[in-house]
Amino acid sequence: MISIKAIQIKENVYWVGGIDWNIRNFHGYLTQRGSTYNAYLIIDEKITLIDTVKHYLFDEMLERISDVIDPADIDYVISNHVEQDHSGSLPEIMEIATKATLVTSPNGEKGLKAHFREDWNYRIVKSGDVLNIGKRNLTFVQTPMVHWPDNMVTYLEEDKILFSNDAFGQHIASTERFDDELPLGVILEEARKYYANIVLPYGGQVQKALGTLGGLDVEVIATSHGLIWRSNIPAILNEYQKWSTNATEKKAVIVYDTMWNATEIIAESISDVFEKKGYNVRFMDLKNNHISDIMTEVITAKYICVGSPTLNNNLMPSVASFLTYLKGLAPKDRIGLAFGSYGWSGQSIGQVEQYLKDCGFETLENIRIQYIPEEDQLEEMKEKLEGNIL
Ligand SMILES: Cc1cc2nc3c(=O)[nH]c(=O)nc-3n(C[C@H](O)[C@H](O)[C@H](O)COP(=O)(O)O)c2cc1C
Repeated sequence: MISIKAIQIKENVYWVGGIDWNIRNFHGYLTQRGSTYNAYLIIDEKITLIDTVKHYLFDEMLERISDVIDPADIDYVISNHVEQDHSGSLPEIMEIATKATLVTSPNGEKGLKAHFREDWNYRIVKSGDVLNIGKRNLTFVQTPMVHWPDNMVTYLEEDKILFSNDAFGQHIASTERFDDELPLGVILEEARKYYANIVLPYGGQVQKALGTLGGLDVEVIATSHGLIWRSNIPAILNEYQKWSTNATEKKAVIVYDTMWNATEIIAESISDVFEKKGYNVRFMDLKNNHISDIMTEVITAKYICVGSPTLNNNLMPSVASFLTYLKGLAPKDRIGLAFGSYGWSGQSIGQVEQYLKDCGFETLENIRIQYIPEEDQLEEMKEKLEGNIL
C-alpha cells in the first residue's frame, strides 16, 4: 500500500499532487516514465491550493490535503492552467471547499467556464496582481501560449517559490519530489521531451516569459509535472534558453519508413555522409520509434532527413503522420532532406519535400532511387550530398 501523505517543500508549503504511475499515452505523447500532476497547498491565515490533478486522482489529492488540514477550510483555489490534467479535480474540490474563491486569469475564467459550466466564485487576476494570504503574498504573471492562452504562473515572494505550472515540467512518476533526488540527466532529458512535444511552437512566448521571470528571486520552481527544481535551477533555465531560441547542434536526425528496405538502404548511406562530416546522427525507423521520441531528438538537430517509399502514389501513412506532427510543433532554422525509393511514379519524395518546405525548412536536393539502390548509385548520391551539407 503506497502511503498517501503531503510532502513539505518549505515550511507550511506542501506538495499534495497525484502520481500517475502507469500512464503511457498522454494525448498521443509516449510517457514512458509515467507522470505526476502537482498540486500545492499553502498554509497561512488564508489556506490556498494551487492547481489540482486529473479527475481520476482526486481521491489521492484529497487524502494528501487532509493529511495537513480539513479540505473544507481552503479559502483560495488558484488555477494556473485550464487543461484537464490540472483542472480535472476542480469540480470535486470546489464542492468540498464551499467558501473557496477560484483565482484565475481572464482567459482562465473563459476556459474553465467552457469546460465545467460552473458558476464558481471567481476572482480574476492579471500580471502583477498580488493576493495577500496572511504573512505571504502571491504575485501572478500571465504567460499566454506557454502553452495555452490561459496560462499563468504564481510567485510566492516570501518563500521564493515559483509555481510554474507546465513550464519546466517533465513527465516522470516517482516518489522522489526534488531534482537532486534523481539523476539530473534523466530529468533534463524528460524536460527536453516535454518541451519538444508541448512547448516547442511557442519559443517567442517562452522568451518573453523567461525575461519576466528573470527578474524574480527564485529558490524553488514548483512545476505541475515531475520533479520540483531546487538544486539545478540554472541548468533548466539554460536549457529553456537554448530550446526557445532554436539553438541546434551538429546533429542530423534520419527518420524513415520502408516496406522492402530500399529506403532504409538510402537512409544508411545518408547516415554515413553525416557521420563522415562529423555530425552526430540519430537513425530512427518509424516502425520502432514513437514520434514523441523522435521530436526529443529533432529539437537539437540542424538536419532533419525524412524518407518514404511510394505507396499507391503517396508517401507512407506513418511518414505523413510524423510530418504532420513535426509541422505543428514547428521547429525553426532547420535544413530538411527528402529521400526514398519508388517503383514507377515516385510521388512520395516530392510529397515529403513539400511537407518539409511547409515546415519552413530550407531543403537540400532530394534523393530518389528506383527500386533497390545499386552500389554506384549510392556512391554518386553520397558524393553529391557530402558537397551539399555544411
Ligand atoms: C503496395 C505497394 C504499392 C506501391 N505503389 C507504388 C506507386 O504508386 N508508385 C511507385 O512509384 N511505386 C510504388 N510501389 C513500389 C515501391 O515504391 C518500390 O517497391 C520501392 O522500392 C519500395 O521501397 P522500400 O523498399 O523502401 O519499401 C508500390 C509498392 C507496393 C508494395
